[in-house]
Amino acid sequence: MTETFVPKNIIVTGGAGFIGSNFVHYVVDNHPGTHVTVLDALTYAGNLDNLKGIPEDRMDFVHGNICDAELLDRIVPGHDAIVHYAAESHNDNSIANPEPFVRTNVVGTFRLLEAVRKYDIRYHHISTDEVYGDLALDDPHRFTEETPYRPSSPYSSTKASSDMLVRAWTRTYGIRATISNCSNNYGPYQHVEKFIPRQITNILTGVRPKLYGAGLNVRDWIHTEDHSSAVWTILTKGRIGETYLIGADGEKNNIDVLRIILRLMGEPEDAFDHVKDRPGHDRRYAIDSTKLQTELGWKPTHTDFESGLKATIDWYAAHPEWWEKTKAATEERYRRQGQ
Ligand code: NAD
Ligand code: TYD
Repeated sequence: MTETFVPKNIIVTGGAGFIGSNFVHYVVDNHPGTHVTVLDALTYAGNLDNLKGIPEDRMDFVHGNICDAELLDRIVPGHDAIVHYAAESHNDNSIANPEPFVRTNVVGTFRLLEAVRKYDIRYHHISTDEVYGDLALDDPHRFTEETPYRPSSPYSSTKASSDMLVRAWTRTYGIRATISNCSNNYGPYQHVEKFIPRQITNILTGVRPKLYGAGLNVRDWIHTEDHSSAVWTILTKGRIGETYLIGADGEKNNIDVLRIILRLMGEPEDAFDHVKDRPGHDRRYAIDSTKLQTELGWKPTHTDFESGLKATIDWYAAHPEWWEKTKAATEERYRRQGQ
């Protein structure tokens, strides 16, 4: 398939976060003709160390907020696309304090769309499968691009709102936009508040892992590098106005994931605590990525979950300086929530 769009100079919002920084590394490593400008507010989740080692001539960093329209007027001209990752991204935080989620995820997306409209550049919107709500554990169906929106949490409802803005701006103003909704990512540089890094770093610090409720909730895991290659495929070959679901057939329940982590780290498989469940906890996410695979020819490469998890464990074990700074404050937040 031929490329329909060749990006030369892109803005990656949230490029100092987990998935955004992995995408920046992916672009720099695989697409030498593309320059990246990272726009990131460096919230508690942003970390410049995630971008270490990127050659100076391949990337500029702008410290700023996506809600700042004047800043966007200064930096957007001269770029040919925005790939929008910046978000408040953690469900538990959204339950404790939803306001920053509305500001960044909804108002921030609105500001970017207005800039895209004004400067007539390509836009790719990063979203989540959580906009579709959840599936019963025994439901034979998976989410497709046709599944109705039914978000459950403040986080997923703000992501759903931002998707709706993109659809409306595409139809009404004719902006050149695509949307992707991806399942749960894992891999290096993920904040220790999230499930997999939290449990790995708990074990590394001698703390028992914490499982919400009975641990039967299912997540559909994808390695973040596969997410990056999918986003690049959609940015360059996707049809304008379309939504593509990204997933790698990685359904597992939380207790099974935790037992694999414990085994890979040499601990007994029952060495964890059950803690208070998350309010409104989505039961199951599952993605059918047939459209992306058949229309655009994308395929995941990290299909062996256990070896991807092992590499992720090795990365956290080898980089304590990366996560130790945020671990204590994160656990204190969880302790106050009874989790
Ligand atoms: P993250 O929390 O690790 O990173 C978010 C980044 O955005 C940080 O660098 C932060 O500093 C920056 N940011 C936050 N508010 C900002 C603002 N107002 N202006 C500029 N920068 C701001 O998040 P993540 O897990 O890497 O998720 C990235 C994107 O992918 C999000 O849009 C999320 O909804 C989506 N997504 C995540 C997953 C997942 O499994 N984590 C799955 C599917 C989709
Ligand atoms: P998380 O990484 O927060 O992602 P999301 O809520 O976006 O799916 O959580 C993944 C799953 O793990 C989710 O079902 C909640 C559960 N979980 C735990 O059991 N223990 C924990 O300490 C955390 C953070 C999450």
